[in-house]
Amino acid sequence: MKIGIIGVGYVGLVTGICLAEIGHDVTCVDIDTDKITRLKNGECPIYEPGLDEILAKNIKKKKVTFTNSIKEVTKKSEVIFIAVGTPSKKCGDADLTYVENVAREIGRNMDSYRLIVEKSTVPAATGKRIEHTIEINLPKKYQGKSKKIEFDVASNPEFLREGSAVYDFMNPDRIVLGVQSKRAEKILREIYKPLNAKMVVTNMNSAELIKHASNSFLATKISFINAVAQICDYVGGDVLEVAEGMGLDKRIGRSFLDAGVGYGGSCFPKDVDAFVRLAEKSGYDFKLLKEVRNINEDQKLSFIKLIEDKLWIVKNKTIGILGLSFKPNTDDMRSAPSIDIIKALQAEGAKIKAYDPQAVSKAKDIFSNVAFVKDPYSLAKGCDCLILLTEWAEFKELNFKKIKGVMNHATIFDGRNHLSSRKEELKSLGYEYYSIGRGIV
Ligand SMILES: NC(=O)c1ccc[n+]([C@@H]2O[C@H](COP(=O)([O-])OP(=O)(O)OC[C@H]3O[C@@H](n4cnc5c(N)ncnc54)[C@H](O)[C@@H]3O)[C@@H](O)[C@H]2O)c1
Repeated sequence: MKIGIIGVGYVGLVTGICLAEIGHDVTCVDIDTDKITRLKNGECPIYEPGLDEILAKNIKKKKVTFTNSIKEVTKKSEVIFIAVGTPSKKCGDADLTYVENVAREIGRNMDSYRLIVEKSTVPAATGKRIEHTIEINLPKKYQGKSKKIEFDVASNPEFLREGSAVYDFMNPDRIVLGVQSKRAEKILREIYKPLNAKMVVTNMNSAELIKHASNSFLATKISFINAVAQICDYVGGDVLEVAEGMGLDKRIGRSFLDAGVGYGGSCFPKDVDAFVRLAEKSGYDFKLLKEVRNINEDQKLSFIKLIEDKLWIVKNKTIGILGLSFKPNTDDMRSAPSIDIIKALQAEGAKIKAYDPQAVSKAKDIFSNVAFVKDPYSLAKGCDCLILLTEWAEFKELNFKKIKGVMNHATIFDGRNHLSSRKEELKSLGYEYYSIGRGIV
């Protein structure tokens, strides 16, 4: 099938390349001309495991091409996926400006049947607005009842996780198809047929709600276990053991029960905000989600408090940050907890050094006065403490004897409980090791 992808960010690019990989002819468009130039040259603009390889392969096979023209994509694609950003406005609403812009452009350039698929995460009823926007922007010659071009709008939310996006796209738990016609359903089923996945067919509003409800529920699980972690610290429990014991119950499940410095990233914070606002507008006060959000913020604050308390004086102390991205295996820095934590410590006068395997180039746009280094051992040199904020696998393998040898003081604050399996070793090496919800070690 000839498919167009509008917006080649973390979702659009993975979707486009994976759809090419399963046999479709894909054209991707973005307003970011630099991104498109890099992609035309075969360079992947984001770090996502496995993406480089299938990008190169499908460019070579001419299964995927890149352009700056929505007009071109609209003219030549039977199906058009909208995958532009939907960031938060100050009030928490999803900002749908990019979605509207794209819908307008599609309408202006349509000359025969198209299926327009909403891939971006949007509040319920956005599909109807996209439909209306396309309708009123159709070329004059197609306006009026008899001359109208037929088109469909459908919702097909994306559930991939950054860091394992290619795997997730190719092996989805389910594919949600929010459709208004049999024709749209048939086309979407055909597109995804090679994945042999479970399809959930709903109306458009339900599909949009499934995405917001899913992300909000996952955020709720994280805040729940973080609240439990606080209690563990008071009573001397170990949140890892509690999560293990809870998670073995099939009704609960172990995933997303990892206590830490809270969720971040480009999705959970903005999607929780948007869901709270959607509820508010429909007359429901979603108190539960508001509290999920508060707990998430408190989690960062209590971690900062712990560091301040243990260091006593933060001013002029040298602090090494292990991990900057909002989670491992991505270079994405959007709403990463590292941002608030580093800025709070800088405000207290700390000198910050930082290391991340992939996110440094993006982090450089966010922080000032941070000394970025190339490996964890250079990071540790002269530090009064290390703070682990992203659970990169390589951090588990570090030589902590060597690290202790170059630090000023052997103190580690583990904001992800990532080194828990090495707790005893750290203790015997003489480290002060602080983690989350495991009592004070
Ligand atoms: N990142 C994730 O893990 C993830 C997962 C599931 C769903 N989503 C949702 O998918 C959507 C996209 O997220 P993302 O992380 O890929 O965002 P992103 O910011 O990485 O990418 C969005 C892209 O859209 C482009 N764009 C904006 N306006 C455009 C226009 N008029 N024409 C062409 N391109 C345009 C931008 O230049 C950018 O490259 C969001 O709604 C997000 O909530 C994201």
